[in-house]
Amino acid sequence: MSRTVYVNGTYLPEEEAKVSVFDRGFLFADGVYEVTSVLDGKLIDFPGHARRLQRSLDELGMSSPVGMDVLLTIHRDLIAKNDLSEGMIYLQITRGAPSDRDFVFPDPETTQPTLVLFTQAKGLIDSPAARTGLKVISIDDIRWGRRDIKTVQLLYPSMGKMMAKAAGADDAWMVENGFVTEGTSNNAYIVSGNRIVTRNLGNEILHGITRAAVLQFAREAQMEVEERPFSIDEAKEADEAFITSASTFVMPVVAIDGVSLGDGTPGPVARRLREIYIEQSRKAAI
Ligand code: PDD
Repeated sequence: MSRTVYVNGTYLPEEEAKVSVFDRGFLFADGVYEVTSVLDGKLIDFPGHARRLQRSLDELGMSSPVGMDVLLTIHRDLIAKNDLSEGMIYLQITRGAPSDRDFVFPDPETTQPTLVLFTQAKGLIDSPAARTGLKVISIDDIRWGRRDIKTVQLLYPSMGKMMAKAAGADDAWMVENGFVTEGTSNNAYIVSGNRIVTRNLGNEILHGITRAAVLQFAREAQMEVEERPFSIDEAKEADEAFITSASTFVMPVVAIDGVSLGDGTPGPVARRLREIYIEQSRKAAI
């Protein structure tokens, strides 16, 4: 069945949804995005995603064509129109489509930003990967220096997933100056005993909305949290590892560059945090 998607003020069947060839998202990757998960037909962590979206827009001198309250309504309309019970909502805002290709930003008075949202149905809770855990490889992080802005420049993360696939793994962790920054589309963590280590916030990583929630739940559960860089060598010695993102929640990692962690199965901390995250997010969903 065809999805109903949102494009610039209109709900359309996906086959009819179009943007201009001059759109700066298409020509310059001049756009930002958010992915918000949906459980039981409700939005997880919407206020966090809305805040980060506003920050991404501000950092790039862009604006949203509608306010965050209207964005919430559009998210809810799409859930209803597509009868979405579990999955994600993808949102993208670009600097719009001026009349020609030009590196210089268009005048916002005459060029409206483009706003697109669509649903993605996906089983998030009952995921086979959560039972087996993921295998990751390490790759160089050669992305730009403002990874804290959630832009649509995703070619290298996409190449990273392909490198992982070619190596018989599930995903890649990126390494810069000897330290892990993050996964291709997720934040990265290692666990030793009761201590969770994850990269501290900065321009080097995306400030994950799931990360913020999971670290809070971990602290509330009396786990120790250290926000600092860690190396692949340290990660290979860890008891366990995991990633977080809106589309995976907490997902165990069981091998790094072919080295199994612990007994090679999902560790207790990752499993516990996944349970807590799902339980608490369900309660707080809107
Ligand atoms: N990716 N780091 C990167 C590079 C990401 O792309 C993402 C999210 C995260 C986790 O952020 P959050 O917890 O707010 O989802 C970290 C989304 C899911 C995507 O691109 O599909």
